[in-house]
Amino acid sequence: MSKYKEVKVVDNFYQNSLFFPMPTVAITTLDEKGMTTVGAYSLVFPYYIAGKDYYAMILECRNSSNTAQNILRTGKCALNFIKDDRKSFKELVRLGFPGKTPDEKMKDCKFNLIKGEAEGERPLILEDAYQVIECTWDDQLEDGFKAKEHIGELEGVQPPYNNFNGITSKFGCHFILKIDKILMIDKYAENLKEGLKRNSFPKVPVDYGYHDSKNFWYMRFGGHRPVCEPIAATNNGTVETVMYCAERLDTKVKFTKEACEMYTKIPRPFMKAALTQIAQIAEQNGIMIIDKEAAIKIAELRKKSK
Ligand SMILES: Cc1cc2nc3c(=O)[nH]c(=O)nc-3n(C[C@H](O)[C@H](O)[C@H](O)COP(=O)(O)O)c2cc1C
Repeated sequence: MSKYKEVKVVDNFYQNSLFFPMPTVAITTLDEKGMTTVGAYSLVFPYYIAGKDYYAMILECRNSSNTAQNILRTGKCALNFIKDDRKSFKELVRLGFPGKTPDEKMKDCKFNLIKGEAEGERPLILEDAYQVIECTWDDQLEDGFKAKEHIGELEGVQPPYNNFNGITSKFGCHFILKIDKILMIDKYAENLKEGLKRNSFPKVPVDYGYHDSKNFWYMRFGGHRPVCEPIAATNNGTVETVMYCAERLDTKVKFTKEACEMYTKIPRPFMKAALTQIAQIAEQNGIMIIDKEAAIKIAELRKKSK
């Protein structure tokens, strides 16, 4: 008998169907007012590593995020790799809650921001990152620039979609990011030149992404067991926001207030899509009023379909 068990491949398989080790990156971009804003990202990997005219990274993100909207508009971003400490990870999870505006996020930001070194108007960078990659989106690949027509469409973009650069699905976006400059804390840059020893490495967290609908899990540098950072309950929406959205859905299905109370944890950008899916499942099962009991039944049906 094989020692392996097959795992179902589902949406967001990198965190739902795998233990996939990832970097923890604070991406800085410029909002419409020219203010630097920070978003949390892990799906950031080297893309062109040799043999091309330039070096590049790829970023996979939600197309309605501040980061995506800002890159579509300005083409610029900085990838700030955070050091391993619980405070930084906690702050990044706070900055990783979907649906907050740059003003809401940045008014209490605990990261110190300083000027980077690449030319032109750029977002600030994190003073505390151990390395930073300042980037420009290559909007020419696959005519990625056409995605600019969809700036501001935050409820999902209609097809056609690109394959790898620009808007790639209703809610998805990929950016090929040309590397303009790599900045690194002195001592680590020296260590890279001098040849590595066991103590040459920066302390970095290994990120395993979002699980159990409430925690981000990561491995501390030198740790023996992973630790988790819960999403703060203060991020929950109100029952009124859920009801507002439910009442405006294009469906005959109705939601009771009690049922809406069960959906306050859904982040704003996903609310409409989630309630639409819930209403569809209700209709398919002959439920026209979603009360608490029906909501529990639908939650089980949704879980089974995943
Ligand atoms: C540690 C961590 C890693 C994340 N990685 C990604 C990612 O790779 N891609 C993505 O679309 N969202 C990711 N998220 C969720 C985003 O941070 C979230 O959508 C957030 O709203 C983005 O901020 P922004 O809207 O200011 O860009 C991550 C969140 C956390 C806490």
